Amino acid sequence: MKKIAIFASGTGSNAQKIIDHFRDSSLATVHIILSNKPDAGVLGIAAREGIRAVVIDKETFFRGDAYVKLLQEEGIDLVVLAGFLWKVPANLVAAFPDRIINIHPALLPKYGGKGMYGHFVHEAVLAAGEKESGITIHFVNERYDEGGIILQESCAISAEDTPDTLARKVQALEHRWFPAIVERLLK
Ligand code: GRF
Repeated sequence: MKKIAIFASGTGSNAQKIIDHFRDSSLATVHIILSNKPDAGVLGIAAREGIRAVVIDKETFFRGDAYVKLLQEEGIDLVVLAGFLWKVPANLVAAFPDRIINIHPALLPKYGGKGMYGHFVHEAVLAAGEKESGITIHFVNERYDEGGIILQESCAISAEDTPDTLARKVQALEHRWFPAIVERLLK
């Protein structure tokens, strides 16, 4: 059985979709969920699902390799960032080459980088008058949103779209594609 570790800072709707996808799977399971925010919704999901949850200590995360060791000791095969807002330290990237993926709610390389998350992304996309947006699933390296692209899916933007309606379109793409890509990478 392959083991997935999910890193998330927020609500965790993508984490939930991945958990659901692998609930009865013989291929893989969500083994552990790590969050930098003690009050993140994703930790409630972990508790309800009976999945081990870890609140990340900032100092330890950016300085030592305690978390690298933890993931290695737990036998993690794939690290999935699902709305995780911290940069992944180089030692963690090096320990899991092509084994850390992220989802971004826009078509990279546009609208990526530091500060481009959540509604900021959709506001910037609409302000630029884009005719489409979408999702990017990519490998993680030491720079924000710059690793190799695994998949992009797009959605049309209409004149009536607001950051909220665009966010919903993009989220529907995330929920549809992220679990499937996680599975593909584990096979
Ligand atoms: C998603 O939009 C994802 O693209 C971004 O953070 C959001 C996480 O949402 N990186 P959720 O916590 O999975 O609902």
